[in-house]
Amino acid sequence: MTPHNNAKKDDYAEAVLLPGDPLRAKWIAENFLDDVRAVNTVRNCLGFTGSYRGKPVSVQASGMGQPSLAIYVHELINVYGVKSFIRVGTCGGLSERVKVRDLVLAQTASTDSAMNRNTFKAFDFAPGADFELLRTAADAAETGGVRWHAGAIVSSDVFYQPEGLAGYATLREHGVLAVEMEASALYTLAARFSVRALAICTMTDCLVTGDELNADERQSSLEDMVRIALDVAVGG
Ligand code: HPA
Repeated sequence: MTPHNNAKKDDYAEAVLLPGDPLRAKWIAENFLDDVRAVNTVRNCLGFTGSYRGKPVSVQASGMGQPSLAIYVHELINVYGVKSFIRVGTCGGLSERVKVRDLVLAQTASTDSAMNRNTFKAFDFAPGADFELLRTAADAAETGGVRWHAGAIVSSDVFYQPEGLAGYATLREHGVLAVEMEASALYTLAARFSVRALAICTMTDCLVTGDELNADERQSSLEDMVRIALDVAVGG
């Protein structure tokens, strides 16, 4: 038990999917996992444990943004013994190369957050994905016929960027493909505590072209992403 999580010590599997939205966590648990039970209900930031292809897997909502995710992930590692995290989220596209519905496998995640600045002081730490998880996700996407990109993203603390696309100009010039709000803190905590992490994001809205997913496309893309993430969680 923690102030944010009323699960018991052994309630989580070693591999955890991390959507931001609690209702998406519930949807994943109910539609993809077998033998599911709720393990966390505090703040309605729901967590579930079940099995996928006979192997234990959990899904825990992270909330929105890096400070929220960092609380859940820190406790999942240090209180509940979780070893692998697969974030399943959405991202905004910063490159013409990435089309709506494409998966972005975040190889690295830069950030504008003060979280890392305060920690690393003079250094710019480079938060990165676990290579095995990344490779397994790329293989699963390839096998499933889902378009994917492995590359750099940025985890921003600001959803409503006052400058719009122009606010990301320098990052775009350095090959950053997409923007979301959580991966950098996830990768930093994984590095700090020697566990594995990968962020998989469906590109839902392109900041360059203005293209957006409609509701049906959003649903089927999320299903593709969750299947790939669960393949990664159980080791491919
Ligand atoms: N910004 C940040 N996070 C996002 C976006 C965005 O435009 N789209 C989906 N997640």
